Amino acid sequence: MAATGRRSVICRSRDLVERGRGVRFRVSRRGEVAPAFVVRFNGAVHAYLNRCAHRMLELDWNAGDFFDAFGEHLLCATHGARYAPASGTCVAGPCARAGLVKLDVTEENGDVCLEPGDEVHLVTSDALT
Ligand code: FES
Repeated sequence: MAATGRRSVICRSRDLVERGRGVRFRVSRRGEVAPAFVVRFNGAVHAYLNRCAHRMLELDWNAGDFFDAFGEHLLCATHGARYAPASGTCVAGPCARAGLVKLDVTEENGDVCLEPGDEVHLVTSDALT
């Protein structure tokens, strides 16, 4: 884990290709360690807890593969729930009206950083190990 002031670096900007593979990381949130991921969509970075709103399972069908074949939605590998990449809102499937838990990330000077808040802190990132 690399800290930049109050932010923590998850990965380098170049690690996230538009609608490509995401970077998996783990956060401590409200006293619990949870899996999370960050992807790039329409030029911006978006991060979520890696927990489907349907049954709380991790979404990726291979580690880091979150997008559907068209790069339009984040897809849960287990039962096919689809989420809007920029908001985490469920758009189809058994996630009903629920959505992903969004994390606050920023991009600055070539780094993608987790902004601490709501008792969220970076534990580790696959991109930094
Ligand atoms: S666990 Fe994701 S759709 Fe069921």
